[in-house]
Amino acid sequence: MKADLLIHSAAQLCTIPPHNGGPQRGRALGDLGLIENGAVACADGHITAAGPTAQLRADWQATVEVDASGKVVCPGFVDPHTHVVWAGDRANEFEQRVRGATYMEIMAAGGGIMATVRATRAATPEQLVEETLPRLDHLLAHGSTTVEVKTGYGLTTADELKMLDAIAALDADHPVTLVPTFLGAHAVPTEYRNDPDGYVDLVVEDMLPAVSAHNSRLEARFCDVFCEEGAFSLTQTRRILETAQALGFGLKVHADEFKPLGGTGLAVELGAVSADHLVCTTAQEIEQLGRSDTVAVALPATPFGLAHHDYTPAQAILDAGSILALATDCNPGTAWCESVPFIIALACRYLPLTPAQALVAVTLNAAHAVGLGDRVGSLAAGRAADVLVLDLPDYRHLGYRFGTNPVATVVKRGRIVVGH
Ligand code: NIG
Ligand code: FE
Repeated sequence: MKADLLIHSAAQLCTIPPHNGGPQRGRALGDLGLIENGAVACADGHITAAGPTAQLRADWQATVEVDASGKVVCPGFVDPHTHVVWAGDRANEFEQRVRGATYMEIMAAGGGIMATVRATRAATPEQLVEETLPRLDHLLAHGSTTVEVKTGYGLTTADELKMLDAIAALDADHPVTLVPTFLGAHAVPTEYRNDPDGYVDLVVEDMLPAVSAHNSRLEARFCDVFCEEGAFSLTQTRRILETAQALGFGLKVHADEFKPLGGTGLAVELGAVSADHLVCTTAQEIEQLGRSDTVAVALPATPFGLAHHDYTPAQAILDAGSILALATDCNPGTAWCESVPFIIALACRYLPLTPAQALVAVTLNAAHAVGLGDRVGSLAAGRAADVLVLDLPDYRHLGYRFGTNPVATVVKRGRIVVGH
């Protein structure tokens, strides 16, 4: 049979098999489906077969071949939580934090998210695209082939739609697949400081209907809320998410990053696709997560970026039987991190996950966190041909080594887009 591409002779091919057609839950996390001297064949942008090299060589004649001898081959990484579209930077705040100011103090003083909102409002859609493109290049070079992106630096109806248009333009121009999420409830903007419920009215009555009707090449599939002291209360979060759900949005929640407000329990109750951050989640809500299909997304670059010492209680989350995924949270405030391999290194130390658990958490389980669990994240036949060749002799070098990029080749929809 004919194939467009055959990647062969991999020291280890990590196929990342779905369990019962779904994610790898709880303590079953970490099943790599490892094939030594493995190969994967792709045609028309999809995987046609994965298995031992000898068998695939016998079955498939490929136009392009990639020799992965001595290397690890795995699915492209899925980064299910980023804020990668923004204008400007906050290096000044980083310096203030190093000198002792806290993230929430800077936010309360009108900096933080609002500083990026001011820069993003001032930018044209073209400037937003131009500033974001190099970050997408970095994400792709570090192995991310599917990336969720949130709005939330516009905070007016027009500026939120401008961000969605920038995301659509970037998705069209760049090999990375972008999954847009509407995060109009990221912060209460300064002009509503004395009337936060008035801003929630705007989100519910104006922004959500406008986003849902917006004629963009790329539809916002999810709605997210920053449920946090100093951002949105549990009552406000519920109102926004219930309105979004009625309009057909899937739901996500920034929950328990600094203070436990009940956002995780609400995410489970409403059947959210994911609950993210989960640093100070209560034991009761962890139990609820374990009985649900809501993916727990840990973001270890955020505490690391803030030099905090508390990380997501991943062991309790796995004991509860939950679906665990990892993401960068790439944003200009807490975590300007464009590298999933670095996230794996953090997760292996501070959650701590084994390299095998972390690898599934950035592929199959991360795909489930953005509603693409049956399309990407695994090297099973029929899925998108998003494949990485890692210049590592053994998957356990993931996380073990950090600070250099292990990704040698990135294949996106069957085409080599990084390396050779
Ligand atoms: O996930 N928590 C809210 N949002 C981001 C930070 C965004 C920013 O500081 O610009 C986060 O950490
Ligand atoms: Fe975030």
